[in-house]
Amino acid sequence: MAIIGKNIQEAGTFLKEGKLVAIPTETVYGLAANALDEDAVLSIFEVKKRPHFDPLIVHIANMADIKDYIIDFPEIALKLAEKFWPGSLTLLLPKSRLIPDLVTAGSKFVGIRIPNHSLTLELLNSLQFPLAAPSANPFGYISPTNPQHVADQLGDSIEYILDGGECSVGIESTIIGFEEDLPVVMRLGGISIDEIEKVAGPVKLQLNQSSDPIAPGQLKSHYSPKKDFFAGDLEILLAEKSVSNAGVISFSKKYEAENISQNWILSPSEDIHEAARNLFRIMREADESEVGIICAEYVPEEGLGLAINDRIRRAAANID
Ligand code: TXA
Ligand code: MG
Repeated sequence: MAIIGKNIQEAGTFLKEGKLVAIPTETVYGLAANALDEDAVLSIFEVKKRPHFDPLIVHIANMADIKDYIIDFPEIALKLAEKFWPGSLTLLLPKSRLIPDLVTAGSKFVGIRIPNHSLTLELLNSLQFPLAAPSANPFGYISPTNPQHVADQLGDSIEYILDGGECSVGIESTIIGFEEDLPVVMRLGGISIDEIEKVAGPVKLQLNQSSDPIAPGQLKSHYSPKKDFFAGDLEILLAEKSVSNAGVISFSKKYEAENISQNWILSPSEDIHEAARNLFRIMREADESEVGIICAEYVPEEGLGLAINDRIRRAAANID
């Protein structure tokens, strides 16, 4: 069973040996390995049961380090990095030869970011290599937002979980690539489109909703609970489903109906950041509870709400 602790040196020692360590970030916990060590990276894919065509994000500690890993930093990308790093933004940039093809699944572009978590920044600063890290969940399941989530599912297959508490953002980073100099948003995430556009001007959205394997993080069905999960108008959903023990995930209000056995509220005060922070924890709790099915409503479709609704939609997609 993995050790859960706050010892950066111990975590670093495992990583230097090519072993896996779960790391806290402000978005979700990552399953980290030395990004320059192909064997270590291979074990990420094995432990997650992740297909090799799904590339990994590379985490670095500061802007000075990035020059070793990319061969071009377009001006607009630099501007975004300066504004949002450390933070919940992943940039797709042309990779240098140091980054193994395995990390990028053969793509010439590497997804790279500086996470905003003091423990992980300290860990990265103590290492001579960057960390490749997908979210620390089995492929296709809900991302972990605290150390216990990681231990519950991957505790037997990894050495160490660096305990950085609850994630402060709670959904994954926004992923942006570039076409010429136009930013293209490939995954909605912790930094909203509005915030991006304030810095970069209008962006293009290329959010894959299909089963296209080029960007598997965008698979139509993802973040999937084991229980049947439905999304939409709660009143309609609850009237449709003939169960006596539905679990309900609502945005801010308690929901009354005869066939509800439990109701989780994302943010009683209608705070969209709180809703994001609570989303994956509540989805897990609902999945592990006694309820028969889970019905979730969408949150207001603005700002961070777009990314939250994206996750709810994909969680429901496995039974569409
Ligand atoms: O917030 C996050 O981004 C978290 C934390 C741990 O940093 N990481 C995360 O990783 O969500 P993951 O692997 O669960 O999702 C990253 C997605 C992949 O599924 C893939 O679609 C996309 O990012 N991606 C990564 N590298 C890419 C690349 N070189 N080209 C295109 N897409 C890439
Ligand atoms: Mg993931």
